[in-house]
Amino acid sequence: MNKYILLTLCILTSFAASAEEKVLFDFENYDLGARIEMRDFYSETTASVAEVVQDPANPNNKVLHVSNKSWNTLIELSLGQMTAEEATSSYQYLAFDLYRPAQDGAYKMFVARIDADTIYADAGFYDQGATGQWVGKSYRMKSITSQGNTLYMGYQSIDAEFYIDNVRLVSVDYGYNYFDPEQTLRHHAEKCGKNIGAAVPVWRINVNDDNQDMTQTIYSNFNMVVAENEMKIDALQPNRGEFTFYNGDCLVNLAERHNMSVRGHTLVWHSQVPSWISSDGKKNDRGYSRAELLRIMKDHITTVVTHYKGRVHEWDVVNECLDDNQTTIRTNPAGYDLRPSVWYTGIGEEFIDSAFVYAHQADPEAKLYINEYGVEFQGKAKTQAYYNLVRRLKNSGIPIDGVGLQCHFTVGEIDSTKLDTNIKRYASLNLNCIVTELDISIPNLNAPNAYEQQAAAYRTIANICMNYDHCTSLLVWGITDNMSWRGGDPLLFNSQLRAKPAFFAIRDVLEHRAQFLGVEPNMPIDEQQSTHVDVYNLYGQLVVKNLHRSHIRQLPAGIYIIDRKKVMIR
Ligand code: XIL
Repeated sequence: MNKYILLTLCILTSFAASAEEKVLFDFENYDLGARIEMRDFYSETTASVAEVVQDPANPNNKVLHVSNKSWNTLIELSLGQMTAEEATSSYQYLAFDLYRPAQDGAYKMFVARIDADTIYADAGFYDQGATGQWVGKSYRMKSITSQGNTLYMGYQSIDAEFYIDNVRLVSVDYGYNYFDPEQTLRHHAEKCGKNIGAAVPVWRINVNDDNQDMTQTIYSNFNMVVAENEMKIDALQPNRGEFTFYNGDCLVNLAERHNMSVRGHTLVWHSQVPSWISSDGKKNDRGYSRAELLRIMKDHITTVVTHYKGRVHEWDVVNECLDDNQTTIRTNPAGYDLRPSVWYTGIGEEFIDSAFVYAHQADPEAKLYINEYGVEFQGKAKTQAYYNLVRRLKNSGIPIDGVGLQCHFTVGEIDSTKLDTNIKRYASLNLNCIVTELDISIPNLNAPNAYEQQAAAYRTIANICMNYDHCTSLLVWGITDNMSWRGGDPLLFNSQLRAKPAFFAIRDVLEHRAQFLGVEPNMPIDEQQSTHVDVYNLYGQLVVKNLHRSHIRQLPAGIYIIDRKKVMIR
């Protein structure tokens, strides 16, 4: 197929040294009407047919058409000189193009095997994407050590009729179309009612141009954004009383064009403070009295939050106010030590309380967060200090809605149990606890499986976040590795904007969870839906009749059938 010749050429030119993609079958060398073997794994004979035909969408192209499908029947193709071991160790993905006719059935599980070994079984079998058009597919293969070379692939279901073309082995996932709405992180996150977000380096990309690959990747994959630097104090108020909202506004406009939420980051912080407030963010060395510094803080918060009222949906009101050491945590009755910032030094601890009150006054609808690093794992002094501070704020009636865990991690340091128990306890304070700045650096990029281990770490975090209703959002701190503020390739996309294993790990988690939950985002009550539902158990017995939709989440933990969908309540 022409477009793939072109793609292959591009790949050859840009990656001449490495084999990034190998086209196994494009069916152009076959005669029209030629048959390919079909093999039924549980029966001697099969009525299924795989025949080379004209592409239903392009008469100049030949493709394989599979019809009259019986269960467990797969297309049989030879890998030629290549063994299973070579195929699965040199390449990571099996990619192909799929065309499903409009009347195609719903239940589909794609499987691929080499001889007796399964290299992929698709868990996302309810939804194989659009019908009546070609859809790019790619599957991550399990690596196999065998000398076998017969590749079996296809849909393991009875009602599948499909066309397939351009079967390829791919070492970087070129088969994945980042902009196909059904393959994005956002698509799956929204099905789970979660926010998946990213920090956007607004100054280095053109967020005003929806056609740029980078911009498109952002709004396709994320439903929440935060400015990496452009809404910090120095960016918004470089001189006293002089506000510069342009870059922040561009991001908010992007979000509004694509129906994304915006986190505002950050109103009060000791870092990236303009020099008219403090020479270093720590010392109160510009001669301000306590009252005047409080006035400066209030003016900043009020002006910024008012400017973005209704457009920025939540704010990091206070960022990184805790001391790293927490030396007096056991003796100090408050149970936390604050960092010596200009705000703490000049105003006193109440700067935190006041900041939340000012923000709330400026936009009572905005959700207000505190945000911190190094407070993710239960058992650490700083983690406990954070909890103590947050509990103190909540108990004093301060308008705080949630707690941000920055989560700047390194592969190898993540303790899932400690993270899980820490996130969990904020639910009992009636607060959200979200992941605000996730990035996971790889300590040694040359280590075997470095990127797979990173993906596993991302998977762990995503799974924990998915387990809790009060963990509503997971944001990564940047888009591509080369633009990250940290080394060690910590993000989801590489420098060429290709999705990394970490991307697929997060997408897997979201996809599986969405499929299992089978719920619409936040179980909305809209005009189309009845406000009340009948709830059945898996035996088909009625559990509750006429339950108000808003009470679904209060059902005892278990799996129910609601609106003909499987719903898991935790
Ligand atoms: C970082 C940005 O990513 C960098 O570009 C900038 O030079 C420094 O700040 N915690 C935070 C973020 O709350 O604002 C920081 O962002 C990373 C650590």
